[in-house]
Amino acid sequence: MPPTLSARHLVRNYAYEGYPIPGDTTLYDTRNHIDLENVDLRGGVLAKVLLLSLDPYHRILLDPDFRNRFRAWSNWPLIGYGIVKVMRSNHESFREGDILVGHGKIRHEVYTVIPKDEAEHVTLLKPHEKLPLSVYIGAAGVPGMTAFSGWKEYANAKKGEVVFVSTAAGAVGSMVVQLAKQEGLKVIGSTGSDEKVQFLKELGVDVAFNYNTTDMRNILYQEGPIDIYWDNVGGDTLDAVLENSNPGAKVILCGAIGGYNDQPNPVKNLLHAILNEIKLFPFVGTTLKPKYQAAFEEEVIPKLVDGTFKYREDKVYGLEKAPQALLDLMKGANVGKSIVVVSEE
Ligand SMILES: NC(=O)c1ccc[n+]([C@@H]2O[C@H](COP(=O)([O-])OP(=O)(O)OC[C@H]3O[C@@H](n4cnc5c(N)ncnc54)[C@H](OP(=O)(O)O)[C@@H]3O)[C@@H](O)[C@H]2O)c1
Repeated sequence: MPPTLSARHLVRNYAYEGYPIPGDTTLYDTRNHIDLENVDLRGGVLAKVLLLSLDPYHRILLDPDFRNRFRAWSNWPLIGYGIVKVMRSNHESFREGDILVGHGKIRHEVYTVIPKDEAEHVTLLKPHEKLPLSVYIGAAGVPGMTAFSGWKEYANAKKGEVVFVSTAAGAVGSMVVQLAKQEGLKVIGSTGSDEKVQFLKELGVDVAFNYNTTDMRNILYQEGPIDIYWDNVGGDTLDAVLENSNPGAKVILCGAIGGYNDQPNPVKNLLHAILNEIKLFPFVGTTLKPKYQAAFEEEVIPKLVDGTFKYREDKVYGLEKAPQALLDLMKGANVGKSIVVVSEE
C-alpha cells in the first residue's frame, strides 16, 4: 500500500501578542505521509484521530515565553485533548477498535502514532451509549470536569447566595452556571454576544448580559454584592467584582482569557481583597480530577444523558478548518465547545 496522506495542523510562528493568524501562527499542512501497515508503533498504537479540542490554553502554548514548558514546537503538530480510534496496537492495554481519550498530548494530525512512552497520556474511553462521543470533549470531558471539580472544591455555596460567572456561555462557564442554579443560587452570567445571552437564559441564568453592550459595574452593583465569582477572564472584570463583593466572598480563578491574546491583564484592586478578606482560589482542573472523577460520573453524566444539564458544541469538519477555528475561539465567535471533527468513526 502506498503511503497515505496524514495532514497536520502545524505550529509555525510563535507570537507574544495578538490573535493567532490562520496560515501563519498555525497552518494546515499536507506534506506528511504515513505507511499505515508498516509504520513503527514503538510499542504503542497507530490511531485515527476522530475529534480534537480547541482550547483557550492553546494561545498560551503559542507564546514564546511558554513553549519550553508546554512543548508546542515549531513545525510540529499542535497538541491537545482529543479522541482517537486504534487501528493497530503493539500495546498490551489497547486493541484495534478501542476508543482512547488523550489528555493534552494528542497531535493534530489525521493518523497518529502514540508510542509506549506516551501511552500514559491516553486512557480507554467507554462512552455512555446515549451520549455522542463529542460530548467527551466538552461537557463530559475536561471543561465539564474543570467546572465540576472547581465548584465542588471551592464554592461551598449556600442557597440564595449570588454567584457571578464570566465567559458564562463557554464550555466551562455553561456547566458552572448549571451547577450553581442546581444549588439554588442567584446566577449572574456575562458573555460577548446577544446570541450567547439567549443561551444563558435557556440555562436558567437569572441575570445574563452582553459585556460588550452593557455596563458591567452597573449590573454587579445593582444585582450584587457578589458572594462567589467564577473568573474565566481576569483583568478589569476581576477588578469590577472585587469592587462589588461581600466581605469574605470567594473568587475561583479558573482562567484569564482576557489577556491571552493581548498584553497581560493586570488586576489593580487586590487591596479590596485584603480589606474585605476575599478568598482567592486559583486551580487547575487536572489536579483536582482524581479527587472528583467518581462523583463526576455519578452526578454529571446521568444529567447529561437525561438532558437536565445542557451543552452546546461548535464543530468544524476537517482538520483544514482548525487554524480558523482557533482564531474564532479566541475572538469569541464560537458558541459552545470548540471541536474539530477530523474523521467520522
Ligand atoms: N483552570 C483550568 O483547569 C481550566 C481548564 C479549562 C479552561 N480554563 C479556562 O476557562 C476559561 C474558559 O474556557 P473554555 O474552554 O470554557 O472556553 P470557551 O468559553 O468555550 O471559549 C472561549 C471564550 O472566551 C471568551 N473570550 C475570548 N476572548 C476574550 C476576551 N478578550 N475577553 C473576555 N472573554 C473572551 C469568548 O466568550 P465570550 O463571547 O463570552 O466572551 C470565547 O468564546 C478560559 O479562561 C480557560 O483558560 C481553565
